[in-house]
Amino acid sequence: MRVVVVGQGYVGLPLAVRAAEVGHQVIGYDVDARRVKSLAAGESYVEDVSCERLGRALALGTYRPSELARDCGGFDVAVVTVPTPLQEGTPDLRHIEESARTLARYLRPGATVVLESTTYPGTTEELFAPILEDGSGLTAGIDFHLGYSPERIDPGNAVWGFQQTPKVVSGVDPASLKAVEAFYGELVDTTVPVRSPKEAELAKLLENTFRHVNIALVNEIAMFARHLDIDVWQAIEAASSKPFGFMKFTPGPGVGGHCLPIDPSYLSWRVQRELGQSFRFVELANDINSHMPEYVTRRVIDALNAKRRSVNGSRVLLLGLAYKKNTGDARESPAVRISQLLLDMGAKVRAADPHVVEDVKVDARLVRVEPTRKELAAADVVVLLTDHDSFDYALVTEHASFVLDCRNRLSGATVEVL
Ligand SMILES: NC(=O)c1ccc[n+]([C@@H]2O[C@H](COP(=O)([O-])OP(=O)(O)OC[C@H]3O[C@@H](n4cnc5c(N)ncnc54)[C@H](O)[C@@H]3O)[C@@H](O)[C@H]2O)c1
Repeated sequence: MRVVVVGQGYVGLPLAVRAAEVGHQVIGYDVDARRVKSLAAGESYVEDVSCERLGRALALGTYRPSELARDCGGFDVAVVTVPTPLQEGTPDLRHIEESARTLARYLRPGATVVLESTTYPGTTEELFAPILEDGSGLTAGIDFHLGYSPERIDPGNAVWGFQQTPKVVSGVDPASLKAVEAFYGELVDTTVPVRSPKEAELAKLLENTFRHVNIALVNEIAMFARHLDIDVWQAIEAASSKPFGFMKFTPGPGVGGHCLPIDPSYLSWRVQRELGQSFRFVELANDINSHMPEYVTRRVIDALNAKRRSVNGSRVLLLGLAYKKNTGDARESPAVRISQLLLDMGAKVRAADPHVVEDVKVDARLVRVEPTRKELAAADVVVLLTDHDSFDYALVTEHASFVLDCRNRLSGATVEVL
C-alpha cells in the first residue's frame, strides 16, 4: 500500500519506518525542510529510530522523506502526526487543519485517513472530517474511511516500543474501523478497537491526565513531607510493595515534554467550553506541577543560605536539561525554567546534558559544560534534574560539595533529596 505519514517527529518517524518495514511504500511528509534533509541523509533525531534502521528503510526505497505536498498523491492510507500545542491555554489546531487541507487535495475514494495527534474529544469528527470533505468533495464513512488512533510512544522506553504497545483504534463507521484496525494490525502486536473516535480521543487524554494528576499528588506530598521530617521516597517505596490498587509515581522538578504540560488542558478546555464547568483535577495538577521549578529554586536558595552564600554570584551546576531521563527532549522541560529563575537572581548557571543537542532552545545565558571533576568541584550547588544513566554518579558524589537530588538517585553526606 502507499502510505503517507504527515509529520516526521517523535510520533511520525517511528510509525513511518515501521510501516516501511512491514512492506508498505511510505512517504514521510514534513513541512520542515531541515528535518527532511536530515532524514534523507539517514540521520535520525528520534531515539526510538536508530540511524541504522532509518538507513535500511531508505536503502530499500520503502521509506522516502519529503517536504513536497505533491508527494502525498495517490495514498491508500494517510496518518497525521502533527503537533497540537496550546496558545495561551487554548488548543491550537492549525497544524491539524493544515494537514487536512493538504490531504484533501489528494484524497481518493476508498482511501483511509487516520488522525494520531493528541487532541480533545470531537476533533476527528467535528474539525478534521469537514476539512477533508470540503476539500475533496467526498464523504467520510461513505467515500473514504476515517478514524482516530492515539499514539502511546514513550521515547527511550526499551521495553515498550511502538510494536509491543497495544494501539487503540477507532473509525467513524464500522467499515472505517475495519480499515484502521487492518492497517495497524500489521504494525503492532495488539489493537484495541473502541466504538467511535471520541472514545479513542478521550482514552488518550485520560491516560495523560491520570499521570499528570498522580505526579502532582506525589509532588505535593513531597513538599509537606519534608517539613514533617518524613522521607517521602521511603514512604513511596513502602506503598509500592502493595501488589494491587497502587501505582508508583515519584516526585520531580516538574513535568515537561509535549504531553503532560499540554494534553490535560485540551480536555479541561473542552469541558469548560461545552459544559461551562471547570475540570478541577487538571487545574490543581497544573498548579502544583507548574510550580515545582520555583520549589526547586527555593531549595537551592535554602542550601546556599545554609552556607551563608547568596544566590547572586554563586555557581550552580544543573545535571540534565531534558524533561525525561535518557532522552534529548527539552521541550517544556522544568530545567529551562529553573535555569531562568536562577540566572535572573544572578547565579552563574552551568548545565550538563549529553543527550540534549547544543542548539536546543534554552536560555542563552546558560553555559553548557561537560560534567567533569573540575566542574563538579567548582559548583556551590549541583542540582540533579534528569537522572540520565550516562552520568557518572560516583564522580558526582565524590567531587560535589553539595547536591540537590531531585530524582533520589544519590546518597551520601553531601546529598539532599527533593
Ligand atoms: N512525543 C511524544 O512522546 C508523544 C506521545 C504521544 C502523542 N504525541 C502527540 O503526537 C503529536 C505529534 O507530536 P510529536 O512529538 O511527534 O511532534 P514533533 O514536533 O516531534 O513532530 C511533528 C512534526 O510535524 C511537522 N508538521 C507540522 N505541521 C505540518 C504540516 N501541516 N504538514 C506536515 N508536517 C507538519 C513538524 O514540522 C514536525 O516535524 C502531538 O499531538 C503530540 O501530543 C506525542
